[in-house]
Amino acid sequence: MRIKNICCIGAGYVGGPTMSVIAFKCPEIKITVVDSSPEKIKAWNGPIDKLPVYEPGLSEIVKKVRGRNLFFSNNIKDSIQQAQMIFVAVNTPTRTSGKGAGMAADLKNVESCALDIAKYSNNNKIIVEKSTLPVRTAEKIKEILIKENSHVHFEILSNPEFLAEGTAIQDLFKSDRILIGGDPTPKGRKAIKALVEIYTRWVPKGKILTTNIWSSELSKLASNAMLAQRISSINSLSSLCQKTGAKINELSKAIGLDHRIGPHFLEPSVGFGGSCFKKDILNLVYLCQYYGLYEVAEYWNQVVLINDHKIKDFASRIVNKFSNDLSKIEIIILGWAFKANTNDSRESPSIYVAEQLYLANASLSIYDPLVEKDKVINDIKTYWKKSKNFKKIVTDISVLGNQKFDIKSYDVCVILTEWDEFKEIDFKGKVVFDGRNLLLKVPNKNYEYYSL
Ligand code: NAD
Ligand code: UGA
Repeated sequence: MRIKNICCIGAGYVGGPTMSVIAFKCPEIKITVVDSSPEKIKAWNGPIDKLPVYEPGLSEIVKKVRGRNLFFSNNIKDSIQQAQMIFVAVNTPTRTSGKGAGMAADLKNVESCALDIAKYSNNNKIIVEKSTLPVRTAEKIKEILIKENSHVHFEILSNPEFLAEGTAIQDLFKSDRILIGGDPTPKGRKAIKALVEIYTRWVPKGKILTTNIWSSELSKLASNAMLAQRISSINSLSSLCQKTGAKINELSKAIGLDHRIGPHFLEPSVGFGGSCFKKDILNLVYLCQYYGLYEVAEYWNQVVLINDHKIKDFASRIVNKFSNDLSKIEIIILGWAFKANTNDSRESPSIYVAEQLYLANASLSIYDPLVEKDKVINDIKTYWKKSKNFKKIVTDISVLGNQKFDIKSYDVCVILTEWDEFKEIDFKGKVVFDGRNLLLKVPNKNYEYYSL
């Protein structure tokens, strides 16, 4: 079967870029990306320099395909009806209440997609799980689909996404691998083949891996857990370096030169952020507990605990340096995004470090070249747990967004995102806490410098 019409539910950091690239590579396929948020769809259809997702190279591609074979729409019903293949790319955050609260993935968005698909489908469909899901979710989706609509056949595939924010387009163009899991039945194999055919338009065949559906679902959680584990490992060692006089960057290089270990994902940091590592590992921990594998659960949980510890420890180092009272100190937080080249601040260490500094009475300014002012304020409102008086907070601190600032106005600079532009700042006479070891290689340290 040749796919001519695709619907993608979820126009976020995954749905937007992945569908843009498929549309670019497969001009004969009509792709409609739908979302329950009208504002998001409006933004995807709006000015090219104000797309809701910032990714290097994304706007250039959207410019070429939008209105050609890529469409953004609120019309979920028609888009589902017309599609042969439906990607589900909705968010799957950690549950905040009920069974598994604080650990398990909340599948309500995925379930609601399954209900919509069942309700609006009047011919056979291939459903592709693009969201990151706990192993055996396909079973649940199938149950809903069969219960709600027994007139058509739904074939479910798992095709997890491995792109990283900030390099999404590059990752999508040159994926390390494409993973497709499906049922080993004739219909399952046919569906796998249809999806493989799409990717073979630009991905070498050897990089397209087909597996059973459970291996595919679990591989995604496992990949994120392995990546995050490397960061927590190097970050735990950076604490030991501080005590012993060893240097973490030298350690990281020495370890990474062993070809069995490799150099990637060994950058020490204030801690990993982003919408996925923490939630996916907690989900893995929950799954292990569910299956009674308590020691395995404990092992993976430690990756998250080390990360939380690292963020707290970094903030404490700043507070301790000034004997727990920052009341006369002007601090600028440099970077709110969870990493460079994205406008995403979900789970950014900045959110937590800034709160600790605020609680120690610091006079805070917050700057990021891409995260908008409103988003920073919303993060503070949503995630600052110990500082409740929101009205007072927003008058106390200065959220600069991407507004220009004069570094001379600050005593202490705290680098929390590895934006290149921070390397150009003249920090003369300042105290600099570098949560990314960004300035280690910059000569002329005429400032007081604290690295990781
Ligand atoms: P996101 O929050 O940026 O986007 C999800 C979108 O889905 C939102 O716009 C939301 O309005 C929409 N949505 C939710 N429920 C809906 C429904 N029932 N009907 C229609 N629209 C609905 O999330 P994201 O970062 O794109 O992540 C999506 C999934 O992909 C998650 O499972 C995540 O773990 C996974 N993932 C994310 C990344 C990443 O880098 N962000 C990478 C790989 C995998
Ligand atoms: C991560 C994975 O890298 C992707 O493969 C995956 O698809 C995605 O999660 C997902 O499932 O959402 P992402 O979170 O976008 O991608 O970005 P990363 O580059 O992995 O960075 C995550 C965090 O780790 C950032 O805060 C980054 O600064 C930090 N990090 C990364 C380090 O502290 N050290 C490193 O060596 C690498």
